[in-house]
Amino acid sequence: MRAHRKTWWSVALSLLVVAMPAWAARPYRGGAVATAHPMASEAALRMLDKGGNAVDAAVAAAFTLAVVGPYHSGLGGGGFALVHDAKTSGTQVLDFREVAPKAATRDMYLKDGQVVPGLSTDGATSVAVPGAVAGYLELLEKHGKLPRAVVLQPAIEAARNGFWVSPKYQALATLRRDCLRQDPEAARIFLAKNEQGELDVPPIGHLVRQPELARTLQTLAKSGPKPFYSGPIAQAMVDTVKAGGGVLSLEDLKDFKTRAHAPLEGSYRGHRILTMPPPSAGGLAVVQVLGALERLRPQGLEFREPETLHLYTEAVRRVYVDRVKYLGDPAFVKIPMESLTSSGYIADLAGSIDPKKATPSASLLPPVEGASGSTLKKPDGTWYDPSSAPEKKNTTHISIIDKNGNAVALTTTVNYAFGSCLVAKGTGILLNDEMDDFAALPGVPNAYGLVTGEANAIAPGKVPLSSMSPTLVFSKEDPKKVMLAVGSPGGSTIPTTVIQVISNLVDHKMDVVRAVGQGRLHHQYLPDELWVDRWGLEAATQAALEAKGHKIRRQEAWGDAEAVYSDPKTNLRYAASDPRNEGAALGQD
Ligand code: GLY
Repeated sequence: MRAHRKTWWSVALSLLVVAMPAWAARPYRGGAVATAHPMASEAALRMLDKGGNAVDAAVAAAFTLAVVGPYHSGLGGGGFALVHDAKTSGTQVLDFREVAPKAATRDMYLKDGQVVPGLSTDGATSVAVPGAVAGYLELLEKHGKLPRAVVLQPAIEAARNGFWVSPKYQALATLRRDCLRQDPEAARIFLAKNEQGELDVPPIGHLVRQPELARTLQTLAKSGPKPFYSGPIAQAMVDTVKAGGGVLSLEDLKDFKTRAHAPLEGSYRGHRILTMPPPSAGGLAVVQVLGALERLRPQGLEFREPETLHLYTEAVRRVYVDRVKYLGDPAFVKIPMESLTSSGYIADLAGSIDPKKATPSASLLPPVEGASGSTLKKPDGTWYDPSSAPEKKNTTHISIIDKNGNAVALTTTVNYAFGSCLVAKGTGILLNDEMDDFAALPGVPNAYGLVTGEANAIAPGKVPLSSMSPTLVFSKEDPKKVMLAVGSPGGSTIPTTVIQVISNLVDHKMDVVRAVGQGRLHHQYLPDELWVDRWGLEAATQAALEAKGHKIRRQEAWGDAEAVYSDPKTNLRYAASDPRNEGAALGQD
């Protein structure tokens, strides 16, 4: 056998390949963070600089986002986290998503058999039992190193000193102005008097101060989660929701429990992937779509090539059909996860794709007959077409890898922009409208235009199905080493955003900044449309896809991917905060 001799040019080439993913991004020798708000990224960095680990940093960022990003997350919401411990090489999943109150009923949003728009999205009737406080503090308790008071300090300061209203805040407050005006407490905090003396969307630069929220955070820093779930804070939340006609009770709060799950495992072209299992539908979509694409194109995808985009779209369409058929809270419904992730199933999924033409969604699973409208209300009381505005979908994500290789991917939400628009009196806590993630009526789209099925029907104590997909991708050479922490908001578009960032890195060898910034495409079974963002397609590629039968809908930008990449070879870290939004990627030199 002839020995392989390295010539000078093959050495130079391999050095170039090693360096490739880092060309456009700034390297950090220490930890790196990416979040949707500069103040949250600074809070995370402050914890790393104090000697904290990725979890201290993530929890500081999550509490700070609860203050400075009320349009996407908060103490009144819930979420999911993946935590990787570099020392043990173990990855834990914590599910602190909201659950339906005990008095919730399957038909609570129906009148005469039809969905009443707005009931599951606006005000007291839309509120599920919040889990964020339990989740953030449990993460800190189990995996953090720094004292609670230190980790909550940046959030307390942000609530006390204020943050300034940005264009994004303005856009989302405009979307929810009427909803916010329904609650005097929310209107007082999140709106500002205009020239006519009415509470209106504040001007850019207006300072939002939240002294009540600062007090609540101080209580949590001192006493932990208890007062939130059984003390005076709990009472305030219950009183506010009850006064608005909702069903949240003290028992709901007292009995709230986080859930630990095993991560959902997949792989893509030699990279191990750990992601969120049900009650998220997102992680399964990531695993199934990437699995199918690897089968169809084992050498990798070509960049923006029409055949490849067709296969991607068809795989995604089929995966969203599975979501309707099977997915809900695993504590309530039996989900055939083993089968859905098996290589045989993924091979069948890939094999069912016609390479020449688009499969009509209705031929895979007929839409529910007579279902129309959505759960979201327009100001005139009629229903709103959620598929027309994916950029308005909300939630937020934090990605962190610290200098020791510990990693956190944490996605958290109050659901729609400004949640339910209801603030628990005297506490500053903005409550979620997560009940809208249930199927109010199978076949009727929710605020994200998503249709879900029987498995996601409302039941007391049940977790509504989510799309949130916090994901860790591991190094090919060392499957115990996290290479990428990634996630995004965007409702139904979350999993496809995560899939495209991973493909951009793995297939197209982009640095993480470029991978996050690329244009995006999305399908979700219904509506039967391929959504393309402003930067997603060239005209000729669009024509080629239309020739295959895809109905293309041009949309504005969506998502807010936050990602940290750790180069397995150099051990340098790179962070990217989606250029579509106002976040910040920071790191330690
Ligand atoms: N509330 C958005 C999601 O969980 O998917």
